[in-house]
Amino acid sequence: MLAFNTMPREFQRIKNLPPYVFAEVNKIKAEARKAGKDIIDFGMGNPDSPTPQHIVDKLKEASSDPRTHRYSLSVGIPGLRKAKAAYYERRFGVTLDPETEVIVTIGSKEGLSSLATAISKPGDTIIVPNPHYPIHAFGFTIVGAKVKYINKNFSLTPKERDQDFLKQLKKIVEKSKTKPLAVIVNYPCNPTAETTTLAFYEELVDFCHYHDILIISDLAYNELYFDGNPPPSILQVKKARDIAIEFTTMSKTYSMAGWRVGFAVGNKDIIYALKRIKSYLDYGAFAPVQIAATAALNGPQKCVEDLRKLYKERRDVLVKGLNDAGWPVEAPPASMFVWAKIPDKFLHMGSVEFSKKLITDAEAAVAPGLGFGENGDEYVRIALIENLQRSKQAIRNIKHMIQKG
Ligand SMILES: Cc1ncc(COP(=O)(O)O)c(C=O)c1O
Repeated sequence: MLAFNTMPREFQRIKNLPPYVFAEVNKIKAEARKAGKDIIDFGMGNPDSPTPQHIVDKLKEASSDPRTHRYSLSVGIPGLRKAKAAYYERRFGVTLDPETEVIVTIGSKEGLSSLATAISKPGDTIIVPNPHYPIHAFGFTIVGAKVKYINKNFSLTPKERDQDFLKQLKKIVEKSKTKPLAVIVNYPCNPTAETTTLAFYEELVDFCHYHDILIISDLAYNELYFDGNPPPSILQVKKARDIAIEFTTMSKTYSMAGWRVGFAVGNKDIIYALKRIKSYLDYGAFAPVQIAATAALNGPQKCVEDLRKLYKERRDVLVKGLNDAGWPVEAPPASMFVWAKIPDKFLHMGSVEFSKKLITDAEAAVAPGLGFGENGDEYVRIALIENLQRSKQAIRNIKHMIQKG
């Protein structure tokens, strides 16, 4: 007779997941906090500002109507899809059909992972930049697809980097026995804060259209730009509609990270695939949350401007402060991150050990670049989520640490 197995159960898909790099740093952070230290935490891209009051008020109002308490729609309520289409029209001059070219997701992270489930099969190849936001690769590896990387070369200028991206992409496609399924782009980028131009998107769309490779664009930081250059959408390129899907989110633009509302827009067939898979997996976000998100998109946009100003101010203080402290870092043109090369004298440590040192010696937490891919190991990501006073305190601590060595 078979005996009941008392060993802990293991599951292949979970075993296949790589170790979580951030866990090591999080452990040190938790220990420091337990020991009573006030860690200034730039680790996660988790907006600290409250959601604007008019959006919260709309949630309150909508949630007091019992009709909103039932299951919602997994594609999102029509008003919210229309509001997203209207946003694309006024911001990018891109006309979308809210019925067939727009879908609401439960945050863009859910959208990205559902997309991976919807469009890829084991053995398919997805091309992902390295470093990258983790779900860009893991969404696909979890469902059995293979990932090939485009390694970012940070010694190049942004323009050269765009060309290098296309060069590496072409090489991967030429060398592949079977045609890769899709390529992922993310500008403004998490973690690197890089931006790009419409000219780059035009070249990318041209190439991918010719080879029939899908493009997945993650535009999470579409409204967090600081130098008067609003980031473009890939859908501004005409032929993109044939092959591209683009994700946006309420999380960063309106400080609504906990609300879980995102969007995918673009090619009808890809949106249809996402719709189909989501109809099996979920019933959509809570209707009052979607109603409040609609009010956010259709309502006054001063709150977005205010948020941009806030992040810009923090960026300027942090970048100047770190440079003055002897840590040369560049000001990001967009996103909510400073992508900082580890100072020379600590470079040998790698990003995980350096991040741990920052916690123990400077009481400041950052995200180690390795967590975003091997190519990020000479960098750490500093999120602009601490207020000015705490940012300045962190700078003083870091200065002291750098001087001490
Ligand atoms: C590039 C990028 N995409 C997607 C997300 C996920 O956003 P959400 O799931 O909150 O919409 C994030 C969050 O940090 C991100 O940085």
